[in-house]
Amino acid sequence: MGRQFFVGGNFKMNGSVKTIKDIVSHLNSAKLDESVEVVIAPPALYLLLTREHLRQGIEVAAQNVFDKPNGAFTGEISVEQLKDSNITWTLLGHSERRVILQEDDAFVANKTKVALDGGLGVILCCGESLEQREANKTIDVVTSQLKAVADKCKDWSKIVIAYEPIWAIGTGKVATTEQAQEVHAAIRDWLKKEVSGEAAEKTRILYGGSVSEKNCKELAKQPDIDGFLVGGASLKPAFVDIINANQ
Ligand code: G3H
Repeated sequence: MGRQFFVGGNFKMNGSVKTIKDIVSHLNSAKLDESVEVVIAPPALYLLLTREHLRQGIEVAAQNVFDKPNGAFTGEISVEQLKDSNITWTLLGHSERRVILQEDDAFVANKTKVALDGGLGVILCCGESLEQREANKTIDVVTSQLKAVADKCKDWSKIVIAYEPIWAIGTGKVATTEQAQEVHAAIRDWLKKEVSGEAAEKTRILYGGSVSEKNCKELAKQPDIDGFLVGGASLKPAFVDIINANQ
């Protein structure tokens, strides 16, 4: 059986009660390709609001989770609290957290393990900077980010990988279909060698970075692109066209 197409919407630190209700209501009434798994990730403050208003069949993700159980960790949110609020996924390792909040591979891997052990699905982000791409280090960078997770997590059945070249995020400069497919295929090879044949066959690998209603169809045709992690466009009505990229 083929891999189920997956589209995530990462709202980042955007939105208000009103605009998030509008986005949710638009998704609730839109005609979405039923074969696609859709997950949206609003800011933490709006997770409950989103879950309350969003129709069943679309899941809600946190943009981050902490790697410790409930306790004295000011400003953090636990896996247990997400589960208690019916939030079934979390993003982890987004480049904005790796770069701005200085999260390293080991911390991302720890959080991934704790999230998976607690029963959440994880959208695990990886990707290279422009400097690393120009130095031909893309595959090394991406596989070492993933290796930190593989060292701690053997079961990849609840991990979805999001390959997001940093130079393509929010820049309007999307990777070419060839560039994206090349990295996705390399990630799948790496999964086969370092995790298992089953993980290579079943793990969804999403592309993220300036995905729009204009470029999604070509990207979706690539054999190793199993969906998208969408930033800016997930806040717009065009998100529906991206979800329906295969139609
Ligand atoms: O998580 C989403 C990515 O960072 C992509 O963001 O679609 O605004 O480029 P973007």
